[in-house]
Amino acid sequence: MRRKLIAGNWKMNGGLAANESLLKALMASVEVDVSEPVVSSEVLVCVPALFLAQCAELLAGSKIAVGAQDVSAHKSGAYTGEISSAMLADYACKYVIVGHSERRAYHHETDEVVAQKALQALRLGICPIVCVGETLEQREAGKTFEVVAMQLQAVMDVLDEGALARIVVAYEPVWAIGTGKTATPVMAQEVHAHLRSLLAQRDETVASKLRILYGGSMKPDNAVELMAMPDIDGGLIGGASLNAADFLAIIRAA
Ligand code: PGA
Repeated sequence: MRRKLIAGNWKMNGGLAANESLLKALMASVEVDVSEPVVSSEVLVCVPALFLAQCAELLAGSKIAVGAQDVSAHKSGAYTGEISSAMLADYACKYVIVGHSERRAYHHETDEVVAQKALQALRLGICPIVCVGETLEQREAGKTFEVVAMQLQAVMDVLDEGALARIVVAYEPVWAIGTGKTATPVMAQEVHAHLRSLLAQRDETVASKLRILYGGSMKPDNAVELMAMPDIDGGLIGGASLNAADFLAIIRAA
């Protein structure tokens, strides 16, 4: 059985004071809830890099892990403004999001760059959350399966089975991100099953164990239905992760 992962993606939000009150509210409830066997999910917050030190310190010893939202495709050196996987590892980062559609769209990240980022993260023992997803135009053209397959394939191409087993995939339809439009559980399940079948063509054991998260307007009122689907192993949550009550409700839904 795959353990569910509930990951918050704060995006470019937060501030020292706001982070502290949000994390304290989360910790107060998560610490209580995880002692009950029903709440067995893994909980993670992916924060802007500048807040990693603060969040790692606040969350030390808690049940909530900290992750980053991006990592350089390069190991080290003359890459002004970039943050390496070794730097993330220094801040107790367990996870890093790679290939979020906002980075693909606004920062022109290609499938190959995303694959290199996943590789760099894994080198330092950080789990990459590899995001894939189609735009509305691509969905309407019937290209959803093709698009997500290409995005996933680029990552599979650079990883051996051992490394592949250590990643998380997140299916995030671009048209559902921050729009309030969610893929229906059936629509999402279809794509998740497709992704798992692609992984199974490479290695069945890896495919059966690998977690595939759904992201795109996941909220307390749709989380239960989405996560009840057989191939949906958690969520990557943007907007709702900035509100303690909403994020906690999604954690409980898992
Ligand atoms: P959203 O964002 O939950 O605000 O739609 C999800 C994401 O982009 O990771």
